[in-house]
Amino acid sequence: MTDRPTLTTTAGSPIPDNQNSVSAGERGPLLLQDYQLIEKLAHQNRERIPERTVHAKGWGAHGTLKITGDISRYTKAKALQPGAEVPMLARFSTVAGEQGAADHERDVRGFALKFYTEEGNWDLVGNNTPVFFVRDAYKFPDFIHTQKRHPRTNMRSPTAMWDFWSLSPESLHQVTILMSDRGLPVDPMHMNGYGSHTYSLWNDAGERFWVKFHFKTEQGHKHYSNAEAEQIVGKTREGYQEALYNTIEEGRFPRWKMQIQVMPELEAETCSFNPFDLTKVWPHADYPPIDVGHFELNRNPDNYFSEIENAAFSPSNIVPGISWSPDKMLQARIFSYADAHRHRLGTHYEQIPVNRPKCPVHHYNRDGEMNVYGGSISGDVNAYYEPNSFNGAVEQPSAKEPPLKVSGNADRYDHRTGHDDYSQVRALFAEVMDDGERQRLCANIAGAMAGVPDYIKERQCRHFDLVHPDYGAGVRKALADAGEGYDPNGIPVDENTPQAAE
Ligand code: NDP
Ligand code: HEM
Repeated sequence: MTDRPTLTTTAGSPIPDNQNSVSAGERGPLLLQDYQLIEKLAHQNRERIPERTVHAKGWGAHGTLKITGDISRYTKAKALQPGAEVPMLARFSTVAGEQGAADHERDVRGFALKFYTEEGNWDLVGNNTPVFFVRDAYKFPDFIHTQKRHPRTNMRSPTAMWDFWSLSPESLHQVTILMSDRGLPVDPMHMNGYGSHTYSLWNDAGERFWVKFHFKTEQGHKHYSNAEAEQIVGKTREGYQEALYNTIEEGRFPRWKMQIQVMPELEAETCSFNPFDLTKVWPHADYPPIDVGHFELNRNPDNYFSEIENAAFSPSNIVPGISWSPDKMLQARIFSYADAHRHRLGTHYEQIPVNRPKCPVHHYNRDGEMNVYGGSISGDVNAYYEPNSFNGAVEQPSAKEPPLKVSGNADRYDHRTGHDDYSQVRALFAEVMDDGERQRLCANIAGAMAGVPDYIKERQCRHFDLVHPDYGAGVRKALADAGEGYDPNGIPVDENTPQAAE
């Protein structure tokens, strides 16, 4: 006799033999009535769900957010009041690679956080960079196509990447960060996270403030060079998973300091740059970071698939006191993620335990795929519509955010002409980076341009010239050093190529 649990079918019936299939005679054939065999094979066929269309490779853990500062004058959100402790889930990721991609690839890292607040789930789905490649959501699918495999060769295409980037100068800021040291962190613990977009906070008095969220690593920044990363990938493709899992398993819980930058609502109208443009940061000197608290990751998932692959992070998840902004990219993401989840995980994906709010949920959505808890969980089966006379859930007016003034004609506004895509990149290149970092930046860019046609290299280098003459010159020198040089005077340029700097 044994005290181990009994193996059963999924319907709970004991399985007498999990080694030998039922055959007609010792040598076969098999019988269709061997339901246990059929169930096993059928389940195996359904083990994979669609991977995320972007950010497919990821690593995650559970943790706690603690609020130690006082930002109650900006927000009524209970999760952000002094002393609040909120359970949370984090998932880090690379953007372009598929689920089996190597962890140590140069790429932007996703930094997705789900806070299970007493007023519902609040998700901040950010990156390890404060800006992004495009500023209009209309261009997001085009950008992502340049990062994915070429339809014919089925290989990644540097030509597609640099063609798109050189035709989209709003990408310069993010491209510069991606190609800098910060484009290849050693593991998820040694990088910052940024909400990136401008969000909003609002208080009980009905005042709105625009905010940027920042999560600063308390482990310090650590990066690999391309050469170091190649060595690592030769040994393991799962370096991030190993590092995050082991550090938590050994009780060395990683922490990030949470900060916000704040802009009063009306200041957006007079600010010298568009504060809702995702390709821009808010300079620290003008909008100093305010300490809010910190989060630590302290529990590994017991089952990676159930708790990390099944996790559904969405910028649409906000709570009273926290909201969005007019940022055109953010507006599109409010739609896109829940739509992706309904496709990837199923209609009622929020009933999957890792996505379930840790507060009461009452709604009138009914039936449909995966609806295992029923729609209206109101305590009265008669209340499956609203309004009703049977004590069904009712709205909460205090959750209504202050009205937002909008103005202007509905139109398709040119988001390329008349925008300054260079000044903030110049500040990063000339004032934040040191000589060594500038050199590594140029070398990384030259490496990433291998095989790209010369006229595209030249178009991109002219954008670097416009950031800073040393930037363009540095990349051209690095290209020559890498054997990828070309004669800029000898190649045809098209009308999309900026004029050569004087
Ligand atoms: P500051 O000197 O106050 O801030 C510079 C920031 O740059 C610091 O937050 C630092 O992050 C970060 N940084 C350092 N090295 C790199 C790198 N290789 N890639 C990306 N970021 C780096 O100046 P400003 O606020 O005026 O910003 C100047 C430029 O710094 C910006 O144009 C932008 O490119 C970049 N930056 C600005 C941020 C902001 O929110 N203002 C945030 C991140 C970058 P840390 O403190 O974590 O070391
Ligand atoms: C994942 C769309 C821009 C960060 C995803 C997914 C979609 C998507 C469809 C997969 C979701 C899933 O299957 O669970 C978009 C669109 C964008 C956009 C349409 C622009 C219009 C951004 C930006 C950031 C970002 C600007 C960061 C600031 C992430 C992260 C994930 C992700 C971190 C992975 C979330 C996770 O870990 O599950 N995006 N995205 N995306 N996106 Fe975006």
